[in-house]
Amino acid sequence: MSEAVRPRGSDAVSVDREARIRRALEHLRQETTDQFETPVYFAPGEFTDPELAERERDLVFGRVPSIVAHSSEIPNTYDYKALRLPRNNVILSRQRDGSVKALVNLCRHRGAMLEEEGCGKRRLFSCPYHRWSYDIDGSLRTITRDTTVGEFDRSQLGLVELPCEERHGFIWLIDRPGAQIDVAAWLGEEMDAILAGYDLGELLCVRSEGFEEPVNWKLMQDAFLDGYHIQYAHPNTAGKIIHTNVMAFEDFTNHCRFVAPRKTIDRFLEEDPGEQSLVDYVTETHFLGPNVTLLKQPDHFQLLTFRPHHEDPARSIMEMRLIVPSAERAGMDPERWTRLWDKNWQILIAVLHEEDFPVLRNSQKAMASKDGGQMVLGRNEVANQLFRRMLDGLLEADAGA
Ligand code: FES
Ligand SMILES: [Fe+2]
Repeated sequence: MSEAVRPRGSDAVSVDREARIRRALEHLRQETTDQFETPVYFAPGEFTDPELAERERDLVFGRVPSIVAHSSEIPNTYDYKALRLPRNNVILSRQRDGSVKALVNLCRHRGAMLEEEGCGKRRLFSCPYHRWSYDIDGSLRTITRDTTVGEFDRSQLGLVELPCEERHGFIWLIDRPGAQIDVAAWLGEEMDAILAGYDLGELLCVRSEGFEEPVNWKLMQDAFLDGYHIQYAHPNTAGKIIHTNVMAFEDFTNHCRFVAPRKTIDRFLEEDPGEQSLVDYVTETHFLGPNVTLLKQPDHFQLLTFRPHHEDPARSIMEMRLIVPSAERAGMDPERWTRLWDKNWQILIAVLHEEDFPVLRNSQKAMASKDGGQMVLGRNEVANQLFRRMLDGLLEADAGA
């Protein structure tokens, strides 16, 4: 990979990165990996229980910020994106002052949906049912045949707003009106500084797609924090490129980061790499609680988000995004640039559909067994253990409230 296409700013943590990569290399030599203190036991009902699913929607997604889009998906005033979140249907709307608002996608007259899921441009949101219309900031603008409708306080009938913040090139929101959003506080100092160092706001979301799968969102998220299944579930794809079950891991309480060595690093198993940078010989994965995996590749990022279905614990929505430097910034011919990311995208999609999704769909079916016994997360499954600990913390924090 050429120096030109490496995301700018990523060197801010490079010294520390080289040490972590060398730790991963040492694990590889010793056939070890970072570990948690103990294994953790869990039960199949966690993926099928409707009451738990409702608690997760309210106490996780209704309480902490999560990423719902990259800023480049709605770059200009009047751009919008409509999407389904765990508690609400939402419209993200780019304002005249450049900020973003998140509005509940429900007409305050008789509840029609204002916008179908997807992206577009609107000078106002106009309801298809009786044509009431709303400004892009959500305020009620016009009521059709208004002399016949009667008197009421229009200022109370704007679209309901959800707390929303743009930070590190992403749009984050809390799926409950009135919640206080503070993305930096939720990320914590370390993860906030790590993301700041990547300059993600300067990059472009060049491809994105959503998949609704008949799988609980935690099963989905778990599969994309898992460095242990690679050679077994992906023997001819990822398993040929990345080492299995070798991780140098950092715990940031609700978030984590881990380095996994690529097979190209094998040339240094015997030979000392000295001072040279080994960044091109690893993938670096970030878990951003509660539901995001951000993969840093040598020349781009991949963002994976996992959201619960709004009522069925056995369904979820995964979104995948490819976030890359523009052709101009990468110093690439635009056609070559398009071909490169097209090819990259096709490979990613094929692995998901042919390798991960079939295993996960069957896992969800398996979890429906009433008498399957307890299951276990190993000490080596560090990111999965952290994910579970983070969720338990959010669900428990409410126990006394
Ligand atoms: S439901 Fe929207 S205008 Fe009547
Ligand atoms: Fe996988």
